[in-house]
Amino acid sequence: MEFKNILIVDDEPVNLKILKAMLVPEGYNVIETESAIQALEILNSILPDIILLDVMMPEMDGFELCRKIKAQKDKRMIPILMVTALQDKVHRQEAMEAGADDFLSKPIDRVELLIRVKSLLRIKMYSDELIRSYKVLEKKNRQLEELERAKEGLTHMIIHDLRGPLTNISMNIEMCLMKLDPGSEIRRYLDNAGRQCLYMNDMIQGLLDIHKMEEGKLEIVRELVIPRELIEEIVESYKPQIHANKVRLEVEQLSSTNQILVDSRLVKRIIANLLDNAIRHTPQNGQIVLSIKDSPDGRYVIFTITDSGEGLHEKYHKRIFDKFEQVKLKKDGVITGSIGLGLAFCKMAAELHGGKIWVTHGPEGRGCSFSFSLPVESGHVCQEFDG
Ligand SMILES: Nc1ncnc2c1ncn2[C@@H]1O[C@H](COP(=O)(O)OP(=O)(O)OP(=O)(O)O)[C@@H](O)[C@H]1O
Ligand SMILES: [Mg+2]
Repeated sequence: MEFKNILIVDDEPVNLKILKAMLVPEGYNVIETESAIQALEILNSILPDIILLDVMMPEMDGFELCRKIKAQKDKRMIPILMVTALQDKVHRQEAMEAGADDFLSKPIDRVELLIRVKSLLRIKMYSDELIRSYKVLEKKNRQLEELERAKEGLTHMIIHDLRGPLTNISMNIEMCLMKLDPGSEIRRYLDNAGRQCLYMNDMIQGLLDIHKMEEGKLEIVRELVIPRELIEEIVESYKPQIHANKVRLEVEQLSSTNQILVDSRLVKRIIANLLDNAIRHTPQNGQIVLSIKDSPDGRYVIFTITDSGEGLHEKYHKRIFDKFEQVKLKKDGVITGSIGLGLAFCKMAAELHGGKIWVTHGPEGRGCSFSFSLPVESGHVCQEFDG
């Protein structure tokens, strides 16, 4: 049988004797001291299973000693049983506030003492078990985190290394294209293969950038740019796609801000992602409107891309900004080349600039309206606007 250690602190030798006489025959191992200061020293080398404390002691009273013990992280789980004078409500309340776990009235009744000690020891045993399981869980969690980090590191190394062979494939496609007649049928296939390479390259870049942003390692390089020029450049590069999908595109310049201080590479990719989504979700002959306007307080420029597609239920309005969240595509089981990273990238990039991104329904509740704000001067934290 395992002996439980009980520390008794009482300046009266007679009390110590009585308590010891009651506890030792029950198989408890008693450590005794007449001094509160010495009790603290004992506790530095021994952690008892329970402490019995007298209230009135000369150099430090029981309340003070109780407070000191409970203030120490490794000792606060040791139950403290305070021995107070009978019916002394004020003392009991003070003991409670000092952190005592139970009270015992003087003169001490043997049966009552043994019941209290047993019950406190049971609670201590449960709490010890809890602490043990918590430590096991904590260790397992740390191991899992390390494994996850190693896995992520490996994944990103592979993603990073994919760029080499991909560039090689693109270059070979370019070489073939140079040798082919303009009207050749094979040219069409190779053109398509080249476009897919570019798309894969964007995907790889997106994954790498998101990873860097999550690790806080993506540095933004700010420069002064004209908001409308950012849009125009992206619109120009998307003209073939806009034409192929037979959608109309309108650009509205409603902003009075001439220049913003942003990382134009990142902002262009936000616009490109939103435009790409809008084109893919807009039916033939549908319309997309790209607008730039100022926030009501003039501190932000707000870019909005509104489409006339199938729209998005409100319950998805926050979730789609999480990585790999694809609402419609998943539901309809449609297999496409997209992976659900675009909006996660947009959110991180907008927030990195001190801006925000959000989605609302388009006009008359149809289609989607994605907006993101960027501070005119860097360093502002953005409020949400309704677009
Ligand atoms: N304009 C839109 N209209 C309706 N649903 C949209 C629109 N834009 C995005 N979504 C929904 O949000 C999801 C997430 O978009 P996101 O751009 O993050 O990923 P994706 O377009 O599926 O893939 P990726 O951008 O990585 O190629 C989409 O899969 C789609 O369900
Ligand atoms: Mg997308």
